[in-house]
Amino acid sequence: MSIDLAVVPVAGRGTRLLPLTKSQPKEMLPVGRKPVVQYVVEELARCGIGRVLFITGPGKTAIENHFDIDAELIALLRETGKEELLAELAFEREDVQYLYTRQRRQLGLGHAVLCAEPVVGSQSFVVALGDSIIGLHAQSRVVRTMIEQFHWQQAEAVVALEEVAPAEVVHYGIAKPRGKPDDVFELDDLIEKPSPAEAPSNLAVAARYVFSARIFHYLRRTPPGVGEEIQLTDAISMLIRDGHKVLGVRLGGGQRRFDIGNFESYFSAFAEFAIADPDYGPALKQRLWELLQR
Ligand code: UTP
Repeated sequence: MSIDLAVVPVAGRGTRLLPLTKSQPKEMLPVGRKPVVQYVVEELARCGIGRVLFITGPGKTAIENHFDIDAELIALLRETGKEELLAELAFEREDVQYLYTRQRRQLGLGHAVLCAEPVVGSQSFVVALGDSIIGLHAQSRVVRTMIEQFHWQQAEAVVALEEVAPAEVVHYGIAKPRGKPDDVFELDDLIEKPSPAEAPSNLAVAARYVFSARIFHYLRRTPPGVGEEIQLTDAISMLIRDGHKVLGVRLGGGQRRFDIGNFESYFSAFAEFAIADPDYGPALKQRLWELLQR
């Protein structure tokens, strides 16, 4: 049976984006015209996901509100002759069912995924980080490819990977390929935030995963790692060491990961999406050009 459930962890505190994230979720920050998490859900829906389970936490109700159908707003737009704006709310009618559960203590991404177990049970599922967009305007189909490979190669997990500059490996989970890393390849290990000298490659985990329910067994046994958090990467690493098949899928051409988790990549993502906006992009480009000449 194909996978139609995605777990989207959005419970993190986003401390690297303070003060912006003091009272609003980083997953609701705008990138161009939409909040980050809307791109994530639209990407998942295009890849065949019909159920999205958000792992939420304190201060994250704006995410739930965003995906509700807002009948009052729809009525207001109709009454005030702004029917043309109804198209902006079309995502509310996306063929997706939304589920929510809470991570009661922010003990890391691995722990957030473990919070999904009572809902997920024995199903296989996707994990998509709520603070990362894949591809300009989320046009990536990598999750679909990952699901296909998961079934076809009977893997226990599939991880999306992106090439990063060697100095950047310290910020990511890094893949150790088994043999030559093609577009799809088996992993020999995953190492969380290695130093450039220790890093076995420059292929970084890129915010999308597919798992069988076996991952829960490993997450329950994962001790706190880097930053005293329960790391998803450590659980995947244990899965591999126990002889289970874990695949890496490289992001294809043009499918970069836009990470909204720190100011450097957030600013850069916003600029790129805004410049690519069909209506406002050309004028913005001109304005930026003028500013750069000063
Ligand atoms: P990060 O690893 O960027 O952590 O989360 P963070 O806590 O949100 O941010 P900083 O490090 O304090 O700046 C990656 C994704 O995992 C979720 C986040 O909401 C984000 O979408 N997450 C992280 C959780 O759901 N729970 C956690 O305990 C940690």
